[in-house]
Amino acid sequence: MLVIRPETEQDHERVYDLVSAAFGKPDEANLVNRIRPFEGVMSLVAVEQDDVLGHILFSPVTLLDEEGNRREIKIAGLAPVAVSPSQQKKGVGSKLILDGLERCKAAGYAGCVLLGHPDYYPRFGFQPARSTFGITSTYSVPDPVFMAKELHSGAFDQLSGTIHYHQQFQGV
Ligand SMILES: CC(C)(COP(=O)(O)OP(=O)(O)OC[C@H]1O[C@@H](n2cnc3c(N)ncnc32)[C@H](O)[C@@H]1OP(=O)(O)O)[C@@H](O)C(=O)NCCC(=O)NCCS
Repeated sequence: MLVIRPETEQDHERVYDLVSAAFGKPDEANLVNRIRPFEGVMSLVAVEQDDVLGHILFSPVTLLDEEGNRREIKIAGLAPVAVSPSQQKKGVGSKLILDGLERCKAAGYAGCVLLGHPDYYPRFGFQPARSTFGITSTYSVPDPVFMAKELHSGAFDQLSGTIHYHQQFQGV
């Protein structure tokens, strides 16, 4: 049975290898190692019979208004999510995302944002952040790629602004 649980220190090496293999480069795995110790970070693994098949990380992001003032809302950034190449397309990624979003909600996050493929994330309720909520990011990406999801209905009402990821994301 596939179980989603918070990672432990014993998982770190396996997570590093898995994330590197899924992305075909170590940048995202190095990011996970750098950001893991920071407050509010949620790092989860998908495990089947003691084998780690997938990993997902959520980190707190900041929403600044048009004047550059910090808005008082707790938002999580989903990144990265990775499934072992041999285990992809079996629902592991979906389970990690859905379970992770539930945990974010339980941890008091009002919403979640991500940069990702517009064909994949809408199935989990993500919508283009700028056109739907007036929320942009500091990344120069096509509009549909930056997506947001409210974890509490109405959480993003009247909340335009720019999302800033944790400084550890710089250069990734
Ligand atoms: C993206 C990823 C985590 C999805 O995990 P998964 O376990 O394969 O996903 P699921 O089995 O839950 O879902 C599979 C579905 O997602 C789709 N999908 C997966 N990756 C996709 C992508 N990059 N773009 C569009 N669709 C994608 C598959 O085509 C499949 O669609 P279907 O259900 O209509 O057949 C996994 O493919 C992965 O690790 N990719 C490499 C790392 C990466 O790109 N991570 C995301 C960026 S942060």
